[in-house]
Amino acid sequence: MNNTPPVCNYEGSDYQQAFWEQGGRDYEDRAEAIALKKMLPTSGKLMLELGAGAGRNTPRYEGFERVVLLDYSTTQLAQAQQKLGRSDRYIYVAADIYCLPFLDRSFDSATMIRALHHMADAPKALSQVRNVLQPRAVFILEFANKVNLKSIFRYWLSRQDWNPFTLEPVEFVKLNFDFHPKAIRSWLGELGFSIEKTLAVSHFRIGWLKRIVPAGLLAAMDGLFQPLGALWQFTPSVFMKARVNVESQTGEVSMNVTGLFKCPECGGGNLQEKNDHLLCPTCHARWAVHDGIYDFREKMK
Ligand SMILES: C[S@@+](CC[C@H](N)C(=O)[O-])C[C@H]1O[C@@H](n2cnc3c(N)ncnc32)[C@H](O)[C@@H]1O
Repeated sequence: MNNTPPVCNYEGSDYQQAFWEQGGRDYEDRAEAIALKKMLPTSGKLMLELGAGAGRNTPRYEGFERVVLLDYSTTQLAQAQQKLGRSDRYIYVAADIYCLPFLDRSFDSATMIRALHHMADAPKALSQVRNVLQPRAVFILEFANKVNLKSIFRYWLSRQDWNPFTLEPVEFVKLNFDFHPKAIRSWLGELGFSIEKTLAVSHFRIGWLKRIVPAGLLAAMDGLFQPLGALWQFTPSVFMKARVNVESQTGEVSMNVTGLFKCPECGGGNLQEKNDHLLCPTCHARWAVHDGIYDFREKMK
């Protein structure tokens, strides 16, 4: 548990309000909704939303019986809870993507939107995701693309020192990374995913254009161009729909909440539900449950 890369901490952040609601990102939000609609399975049992934040995208997973919202920040999860409510349909989990507290093959779908962006060790994060997915499960991954037109022109005009065409991620601000689509494809392939669809998203992320063209119209135009992602990706955001290759072992999706979890300390299952915590019967670690949030970040003292 201690050897995980650093986390970009959103505890106490006003990200949802400042970035989305007051930040002039209506166009991006709508363009992402269109992309998601093109990729999401129409139905499913259990969706894992990684880096769910304040649950901006969660209502878009309407075809799923249950959704697990996972985020490192409990304040983001509390905002999501305020928006979506407490019910059997939503399970709120505070945990590190690098150390997922779920048994292998627990989910039939997962999404990770605007979260890989913060992963200093993206292959390690993706391997965690792969472990908790069922054979044939769908994984929708959004990532920030280093080969976008703006970065290419800036590089050619010598206004940016990093090369957008090389495969390694670029950390342009501390714990904020852009990735090369080829590197993402290669990591997903090595982990046993097949990529079924690639969409180029946010073609029109240009300040003056967003000010003069209504967001709905701009997003609809983006939707028309998104499939070009199958040919090339020069947009700041790229969505990939990947599927876990079939393997011999299959498993059932557990709809029992505690039946999903494993202890991040020892990896043991069968966590026991106590008053305000889950108890690991193997190593006796205790994991807090507070205000409807399962907290697997640090064991209780
Ligand atoms: C840019 S926000 C995106 C939120 C949401 N997916 C959206 O698109 O509105 C990134 C989220 O990832 C979460 N995050 C970053 N690193 C994480 C980690 N290692 N484990 C779990 N969550 C993480 C942050 O707490 C934050 O809520």
